[in-house]
Amino acid sequence: MAVHGLDHNIRYFKRFRMERELGNDLPAAVLPAGFSWWPWQPVLLEHHAEVKFQCFHDEIDATIFPSLGCRQGCLLLMTEISRRPGFIPEATWLVVGPDGPCGTVQGIRERPGVGAIQNLGVVPGCRGRGIGEALLLQALHGFCRVGLGRAVLEVTAQNDVALRLYRRLGFRCRRTLYKAVDVAATFPF
Ligand SMILES: CC(C)(COP(=O)(O)OP(=O)(O)OC[C@H]1O[C@@H](n2cnc3c(N)ncnc32)[C@H](O)[C@@H]1OP(=O)(O)O)[C@@H](O)C(=O)NCCC(=O)NCCS
Repeated sequence: MAVHGLDHNIRYFKRFRMERELGNDLPAAVLPAGFSWWPWQPVLLEHHAEVKFQCFHDEIDATIFPSLGCRQGCLLLMTEISRRPGFIPEATWLVVGPDGPCGTVQGIRERPGVGAIQNLGVVPGCRGRGIGEALLLQALHGFCRVGLGRAVLEVTAQNDVALRLYRRLGFRCRRTLYKAVDVAATFPF
């Protein structure tokens, strides 16, 4: 829930930091029929960026992180993520369906032993079919393959669908954060 601050241009968005141990209890990552996995390759960067844009530009997270609201921002963000020293190709996946790329996730080594999920997204027309769950599991298996023992992520409190998905897959809230956003340009009230 957003809380107005003393400065009229600032709103505070409640976010949860969630965590999960990575053990032998991870279910397999299974896609619906007609969808397949594309592992990370640098030539797929623009596909990841475009899918990220399709997934996020109409969502609350694009208000909190404006780069998610435009194509150029998504391209810069994806470029920056893929160049970070902790970038984990094994936890970075595209899902491709009959109409092309439709889901994306990236993984980053946040600190020794801990992987952070970045920007899980499924395009609106493909939601509610288990692709989001499969993508998250696929990234978690990638963390396991590179020897990580714990996964973390952040989610906006009002993002009910994502929260349910994360809880269903064993993530638990460890901390509540408030992200300050200057919304003067997007919310003239
Ligand atoms: C969050 C997000 C990735 C979920 O993707 P998704 O592919 O819809 O996820 P799933 O299909 O695995 O799960 C969504 C729902 O569909 C249901 N579902 C899964 N397979 C299903 C099927 N075959 N038939 C009917 N329902 C199904 C799930 O049970 C789940 O139900 P719930 O909302 O009651 O928990 C997607 O909504 C999204 O991209 N949102 C915008 C970006 C975003 O906010 N990302 C998270 C940032 S933290």
